[in-house]
Order: sequence, then structure tokens, then C-alpha cells
Amino acid sequence: MIRPQLEEFMRRMAPKSVAIIPGAHDTRRSNDTHYRFRQDSDFFYLTGFEEPDSIAVIRAETDPKYTMFVRPRDPEREIWDGRRAGVEGAKSEFGAHEAFPIAEFGAKLEGYLDGADVLYYRLGMDRELDETIIKEISRMRGWNRKPIHPPQTIVDPATIIHEMRVVKSADELEIMQTAADIAAEAHCEAMKAVRPGMREYQIEALIEQVFRRHGAAAPAYTSIVGAGANATVLHYINNDGELRDGDLLLVDAGAEYKGYASDITRTYPINGRFSQAQREIYDLVLKAQMECVEMVRPGVTHDQLKQHSIEVLTEGMLELGLLEGKTEEIIKEKKYEKFYMHGLGHMLGIDVHDVGRYYFGKESRALEPGVVMTVEPGLYIAPDTKDVPEKYLGIGVRIEDDVLCTNNGPRVLTTKVPKQAQEIEDLISRR
Ligand code: GLY
Ligand code: MN
Ligand code: MN
Repeated sequence: MIRPQLEEFMRRMAPKSVAIIPGAHDTRRSNDTHYRFRQDSDFFYLTGFEEPDSIAVIRAETDPKYTMFVRPRDPEREIWDGRRAGVEGAKSEFGAHEAFPIAEFGAKLEGYLDGADVLYYRLGMDRELDETIIKEISRMRGWNRKPIHPPQTIVDPATIIHEMRVVKSADELEIMQTAADIAAEAHCEAMKAVRPGMREYQIEALIEQVFRRHGAAAPAYTSIVGAGANATVLHYINNDGELRDGDLLLVDAGAEYKGYASDITRTYPINGRFSQAQREIYDLVLKAQMECVEMVRPGVTHDQLKQHSIEVLTEGMLELGLLEGKTEEIIKEKKYEKFYMHGLGHMLGIDVHDVGRYYFGKESRALEPGVVMTVEPGLYIAPDTKDVPEKYLGIGVRIEDDVLCTNNGPRVLTTKVPKQAQEIEDLISRR
């Protein structure tokens, strides 16, 4: 009943410790309307509980080990806002050993802190709760002539949880494959629908329609739909421009399904045919992308992947006349950053930019089986760039897949959406 990841977290906790893991709150959008609720990622990972205003208290050695504080049942509020699991549901549906109304947390806090040497609590995320906990510890310290012992050490639970989240279980991978499949289908539908005269938001709407049709909660991040020079703006989200004949369209969109993200980018010609110049840039990015995907294996570091993409793109840009000089010098002086200014990719999971360390000291993290990462090189030639062949101005290309590292090499979760230029042209022409 308890999630396996919560059991594993308990195994990794220090002796004589307690963890306080809060969920998220509703976020006000304007006046009395709120954003659709999304649970805090760490809280969701451990508990699977999707209601706001909850706190999990976890103790590895004391029974009961897993206590939940939740919003109590409230027939009146539930008429407006929907069903709550309540105290009973937290136990019967979510496996808590005991549960209480959230309003009782403050009064019970001393009991959890007393005798724990280590408190796992992530400071700086929830100021009100920080205040409650710090005040309680401070109050308990004042009683040093009584047998009351507040924690001596506060440790960020992310040191355990985020490292666990880096390696995905079989159950998580199954969900992530579905999230990837949904996004792949959405991208294919967008390719089939694209034509000159449309607006970017029509593509955005079409993509997100497919997400919701398959039960995805929402996009995993604000979809990027950039036509023509808008594709050279990395975080372009206005999505209100026109799709013009002869331009490329860059679409970066992923679905959040059962709490897990997918993250796909494809770039394709609005009229269905790449021009010669577009094709040159596209094929160069694709070469870098495919070679880096092939490198996704245990032991390879994030830095090695990025470095390889830099080398391939730099050599290609020299051939195309986008850069001038010697390869080594361009790389040393980072001159490629004029056109390739972001990382090669990132880990993917409950968060689109998922948690986990990329460096241990100065050492780049090595991949291991069960890690899912994006591989997403790109080239962006802003329309006002000086000293580059005019035919390349205003071209932005990124190609992004989600790749699982396995002992048998890379497993691409997003193969269902084409990326070879010819395959893309074929798919667009089949509309
Ligand atoms: N869409 C965010 C990213 O690709 O990292
Ligand atoms: Mn993306
Ligand atoms: Mn990405």
C-alpha cells in the first residue's frame, strides 16, 4: 500500500530521524480564481497524494512510521471544490499509518521533533511552514532542563529523494513511455495540420487537444510554437505569430501524464518542403542529435555528451560558413555559443527539468541505467546576426528526444514522431 519509493526513502533515512515533507498549496491566479492545482513533485513521488495543504511526517524507526496531515472531509466545501480523501482516505487509499486534519499539525509537531537527532526538512520552499518549524525548535531549545531534545541537525531531504528520482523504476518508465507516446502523437498531428496562413496558437491548441484527449493533465511546460525567426528565441511562448510560406516551424511541447513529463521538439517546413539552406542547418543539428543519442550509455557523462554536440556543430558551422577559424580555437573561446547557447539536454521525470545533481564537485555526472534524459541540440541564427550568409538568417532548429539509458544502449521513448527530413516531408504531404 505504501509506495515502494517511500519504503526506500525510509531505508535511507539516518537513525533517529524524522522527515517533514509538505505538499503544495493552491496558487491564486487573480482575484478569487486559482491555477489548476499541481502537487509538489517530491511529495507526489513519495505519497501519490494529489490534494493541496497536506504534510507527510515520516519516521523510519518509530511506529507509526508514516503520518499524514490532510484537509478533513467537509461536505459544504466538497460541494464547491470536489471530493477530499480526508483523514480516513489518507489511511485507506494512500496507506498512511495514521492521519490527522492539517490544522492539528502545529500541536503535534513537538512530539515528532522530540528525540529526533536529524530533521529532514527542505527550508526555503514554504515560508509559513519554515516559520512554524523553526519557532517550535527554538521553543523546545528553551526547555533544556527538561528531558526534551529538539533535532541538532536539519538536512535537506532532497539529498535522498532527488537522487532516488534520478533512476526510474519499471512502473515510472511505463508511465513515461505513455507520456512520450501522447506527445509524439500530438507532434505528428501538428505536422499533418501545418500550412501557411495558420497562427502559431492553432498548432498549440491542436497539440494540447491531443494531450487532453489522452488524459494528460496538462502540458508539462508552456508549449513553444515558434514560426520563422520566432524559432530563434529560446523560450518563445507568445505563440501568436503567423505561419508563413517558406519558413520553418519549431514546436517544443510535452505532456504531463500521471505526474510525469515528456519533452519533444521538432522543427519542420510550414509549406512541407525544406529549402536548401534550411535543410543544411537541419541536417547538421540532426547529425549532432543522433550521434549524442547513440552515446547515451552507462558511464558516459553529461559533459561528454555536450562536448560531442559542440564538436559536431562547430565543424558543421565552419563548413557552412557560419563560423570562421580553427575548430579548437572556436571551442576554447566558446564562439559556437553565438548559435548554440544552451545545454545538450537534461534529466526528465516528474519535473521536465528533473532533479538530481549534474556535478559532484567538478566531476560531471555519469549516466546509469534507468536515467531518462533529453537530447536536444539546436542552432539559432537570429535575423539580425552580422557576418553570416544571408540565406541562414532567421533560421532556428532544435530536435529533441527523450532517451532512456540502459545496459543495452539508448532506448528512445519518442521514436514515434519522425525526425529525418525526408520522413517529415512525407508526413506533411500526406495531409
Ligand atoms: N521545453 C523545455 C526544454 O526543452 O528544456
Ligand atoms: Mn523541450
Ligand atoms: Mn528539454
